[in-house]
Amino acid sequence: MAIEIVDFDEAYQHYRNALVSLHYSAWGGLDDLTAALRARRSGFPFAPYLGLYAREDNALLSAVFVSHYPVTTPDGPETVAGIELVMTRPDATRRGLAGQLLREVHRREQTAGPRLSLLCTGRSNLAYELYLKLGYQDIFTPRAALRYIDRPTTTVFPTIRVRRVRTRDALALARVHRRTNAGALGFARRDPRSFRTRFLSGAVAVRNLLVAERHGRVEGYATLEPHLSWSRAAEVIAPTSDVRAALMARLERESKGRWLAFGSEWFSGDDDPELIRYTPLLPSYSVMMACPLAPSLRRRNLYRWFRSGGKPFACQLLDMF
Ligand SMILES: CC(C)(COP(=O)(O)OP(=O)(O)OC[C@H]1O[C@@H](n2cnc3c(N)ncnc32)[C@H](O)[C@@H]1OP(=O)(O)O)[C@@H](O)C(=O)NCCC(=O)NCCS
Repeated sequence: MAIEIVDFDEAYQHYRNALVSLHYSAWGGLDDLTAALRARRSGFPFAPYLGLYAREDNALLSAVFVSHYPVTTPDGPETVAGIELVMTRPDATRRGLAGQLLREVHRREQTAGPRLSLLCTGRSNLAYELYLKLGYQDIFTPRAALRYIDRPTTTVFPTIRVRRVRTRDALALARVHRRTNAGALGFARRDPRSFRTRFLSGAVAVRNLLVAERHGRVEGYATLEPHLSWSRAAEVIAPTSDVRAALMARLERESKGRWLAFGSEWFSGDDDPELIRYTPLLPSYSVMMACPLAPSLRRRNLYRWFRSGGKPFACQLLDMF
């Protein structure tokens, strides 16, 4: 039976059972498609086709989702395609379906304008080999630092108040993010709508975000995702050292008696004083990869290109889509 490629709306309308079954069997769970549809209505920049499915008869065997993200390259701000939810039903793997869908995405995106396609995976994921074959290159590996918090920092910061975030803080978070990452390449200019969308979709629980404010003005924020024996502050955005230290004190207090793991991209270099009590930076499982769609980028080493002129590459938790 021939494979036909259909877009998300057609799959959702005519093959909904097959669509939900595919997501269930490929991921071992159900994605919250209602959240994706709400996010699209609220303006989240999905590709117009949102996702592509490989259909065979009445079955959907493979899928990929596509969004658009603002990224700063050495040539200036541009929009890139962001691929996620690459999946193939376990009984249909190794037939080239994921590869076929990704090539079709590349074709459509190249026609629409993006010069690059980005995705996140793990180096030991089966898909890593597939992405290499399609021309993807590693451009970023997040690092982590961690420590068991038996004695939290007790320093008090009289002018800085750290509190839970409120949904209406979304624009202030975007402003602080942009100020902190000024001059960087990569995800330096996050779409302000994406904060609100992440709250709406539940990707970042509002209760897991802390903001630091001075005289009522938001000056920094941190995510804190609690688990039973550890917690993770994967994104800490704080342009000044006092805001950073105030957030750190609160994160440590809330993590007392647990391991606390940090994403590294907010530290001002590996010898940042806040980091000295933690393990040296460790590479993590995830990797962000990029594939050139425009012929002008084909022969470039994209890792080096994204660090041209000694500029840092900005990429934090919410950017690892
Ligand atoms: C990874 C996944 C998407 C691959 O889908 P697929 O339709 O089988 O992919 P393709 O047939 O296009 O595979 C192309 C290449 O990927 C690599 N690959 C895919 N599955 C592999 C496996 N089980 N073992 C080793 N290599 C594998 C191979 O290089 C393969 O080429 P080859 O078959 O010529 O050797 C699928 O296994 C899956 O849904 N996994 C679970 C979800 C997931 O992890 N998604 C990736 C998220 S980043």
